[in-house]
Amino acid sequence: MDYFSYQNNSLFAEDCDVAKLAKTHGTPLYIYSRATLERHWHAFNNAVADHPHLICYAVKANSNLAVLNVLARLGSGFDIVSGGELSRVLQAGGDPKKVVFSGVGKTVAEMEQALNIGIYCFNVESSAELEQLNEVASRLGKVAPVSLRINPDVDAGTHPYISTGLKENKFGIAMEEAEVVFARAAELAHLHVKGVDCHIGSQLTEIKPFLDAMDRMLALIDRLGEQGIQIEHFDVGGGLGVTYNSETPPHPDAYAAALLERLNGRKLKLIFEPGRAIAANAGIFVTQVLYLKENSDKRFAIVDGAMNDLIRPSLYSAWQNIIPVQQNDAPTFAYDIVGPVCETGDFLGKDRQLAVKSGDLLAIRSSGAYGFAMASNYNSRPRVAEIMVDGGNDFVVRQRETLEQLWQGEHLLP
Ligand code: LLP
Repeated sequence: MDYFSYQNNSLFAEDCDVAKLAKTHGTPLYIYSRATLERHWHAFNNAVADHPHLICYAVKANSNLAVLNVLARLGSGFDIVSGGELSRVLQAGGDPKKVVFSGVGKTVAEMEQALNIGIYCFNVESSAELEQLNEVASRLGKVAPVSLRINPDVDAGTHPYISTGLKENKFGIAMEEAEVVFARAAELAHLHVKGVDCHIGSQLTEIKPFLDAMDRMLALIDRLGEQGIQIEHFDVGGGLGVTYNSETPPHPDAYAAALLERLNGRKLKLIFEPGRAIAANAGIFVTQVLYLKENSDKRFAIVDGAMNDLIRPSLYSAWQNIIPVQQNDAPTFAYDIVGPVCETGDFLGKDRQLAVKSGDLLAIRSSGAYGFAMASNYNSRPRVAEIMVDGGNDFVVRQRETLEQLWQGEHLLP
């Protein structure tokens, strides 16, 4: 559930009129709802209830400082994949003791940064990384807390670009090698083995792949226990899907209940790394129709937002709902909603039945995750502003980029 709804034919974000926000802050524009972010975080946290756990929001989904700060105030942990994300978490008031560091390519500098700050755990993805981390920790006179990301080889049944748990993917350590790598980790003096980790993909709409992965991981944890390697936590990764269109992903309650049942009394602490499930439906992307255009048998609504602002439709053929900000009685036709970028792939939606005229505002729903976070300056388009609403108040949480910022740091030859 989210807090974007129509009141008298006008779209509201909580108690704020979206058309008014667009007028005040300009378009294109991202709008986030604090109440929705909080609701989604609590849904996850409450779902796991009394079982020891930590919710580590996946920063990559939406790394705006205000978003991180709202979650930090709830006591959230964070899943990061770079030194930049770690710095953002700290800047936003997040607790480094609740940070897990994922990713296949951590640099020495990033390892040093995270060791000096004192994070909760490194999710190590290869033997080579394990040796490197031990060396860096030894040099700093520290012991690095580690969990090994194991690839359980299950099919998440999602888009190939966001499926990560198959043997052929670059992520994690193969299950066949897991015990050998754990044994090595246990003997390295500057590592402390804490956990086992997996993440099989994103936008999963069924529980079964999660449970298949869990069964394999629990069997591994049991085998490790027999070998004297005690595992404290199991990081189940992120990946719980959301409703963009007609998908019916499990509610966090059902998801958590199924996982807890599988634990079968084991005392393992559970770590969750949800990104999309918290942020996606807590944000909309608002764009204005510049022109309507007809080519042979096709109608286009050309809008001021583009693939550089919201790339999911172009990159993954992702479907996100597109709705009018103010419902009107213009004639309804099927439109492709396209941006000004010079690429055929620059579209936000195709073949959408809409009643629009030029000057109208459209809202692209479910844009709070992997929206602004994946934005670029392609075609020298300044990145757009981000607003967060809180009840009837709205706050600029990121200013629209200026033209000067576009070439900041660039230099002419002498
Ligand atoms: N943990 C790890 C290790 C991950 O790689 C990811 C996402 C997450 C957690 C969070 O997954 P979530 O709960 O958000 O599904 N840009 C794509 C999604 C890429 C996901 C990458 N990894 C999209 O827009 O659909």
